Amino acid sequence: MEQTRLGRTPTLVPTIGLGTARYVGGRGVLVRGIDAGLRLIDTAESYNALGDEPGWAETLVGRELAGRRGEAFVATKISPRNLSARDVPAHARASARRLQVDVIDLYQIHAPNPSIPIAETMAALERLVDEGVIRYIGVSNFSAEQLKAAQDAARTHAIVSNQVRYNLFERAAADEVLALCRSSGVTLIAHTPLALGRFEGRRGARTLLEVCRDVGKSPAQVMLNWLAGQAGVIAIPKTDRPERVPELAASVGWELAPEQRAALDGCAARA
Ligand SMILES: NC(=O)c1ccc[n+]([C@@H]2O[C@H](COP(=O)([O-])OP(=O)(O)OC[C@H]3O[C@@H](n4cnc5c(N)ncnc54)[C@H](OP(=O)(O)O)[C@@H]3O)[C@@H](O)[C@H]2O)c1
Repeated sequence: MEQTRLGRTPTLVPTIGLGTARYVGGRGVLVRGIDAGLRLIDTAESYNALGDEPGWAETLVGRELAGRRGEAFVATKISPRNLSARDVPAHARASARRLQVDVIDLYQIHAPNPSIPIAETMAALERLVDEGVIRYIGVSNFSAEQLKAAQDAARTHAIVSNQVRYNLFERAAADEVLALCRSSGVTLIAHTPLALGRFEGRRGARTLLEVCRDVGKSPAQVMLNWLAGQAGVIAIPKTDRPERVPELAASVGWELAPEQRAALDGCAARA
């Protein structure tokens, strides 16, 4: 599996990982993923919450990775309503317990919360790095302006990643956000990289299918290769089907020809 440096850290992460939104588990997808090199697992305290009980997806991830601890790079997220200095430490520790890890590799602010000062949240997160509860700080769904404000608020530990919706058909992040990520050493983690698996009927779908035919790859593979081929971008597709793991893993390790990449670049609106 191709690796990418996470932010400006010395840590290498795979260019393709696995997401767990709406993941139902129980079929060994995550362990198969690790075996295939998809060893970055992304989850969130809010995923698959049962009523008021948070973190069901984190519990699943913790259980499935229990025998493979240390082999996966585990990323999770704290929900916007929990970003106060008082709530952050309790929520991080609860996530670590559910994930059955001593240290959360990447702890991401799931989305901005304008009613809680970003400086307060960043200070709380930086304390967690110092205490060894989390390894790296990331954000998610931050615009360029919001990322810049969070970077300005950071005192001792840099923001290493911004996880945003970015796929062949949805390019809102393609300009400003990606440019700031690149210029400031922040990895862009593309969420919803398969556009939820709904390829047909999209503007650009015909170009996608033509490229698929030319390279002999599936739509998911071409969509992921298009993302992973961009500097500073990694992607986290989700699947519940073990048989799809090899397909996702084989989305990298080969290159689109420049004219194929250009056709894909031009096939959908940027915003
Ligand atoms: N930070 C955020 O706010 C945010 C928001 C959304 C998502 N995320 C993260 O990003 C991850 C991925 O996003 P997502 O789950 O929303 O959407 P996605 O990865 O774009 O699409 C997932 C869908 O694609 C299908 N799929 C998987 N492999 C496929 C293949 N090879 N061919 C065709 N279809 C395929 C899956 O079905 P099967 O399961 O049946 O294979 C599933 O229905 C999430 O799991 C989560 O970790 C973060």
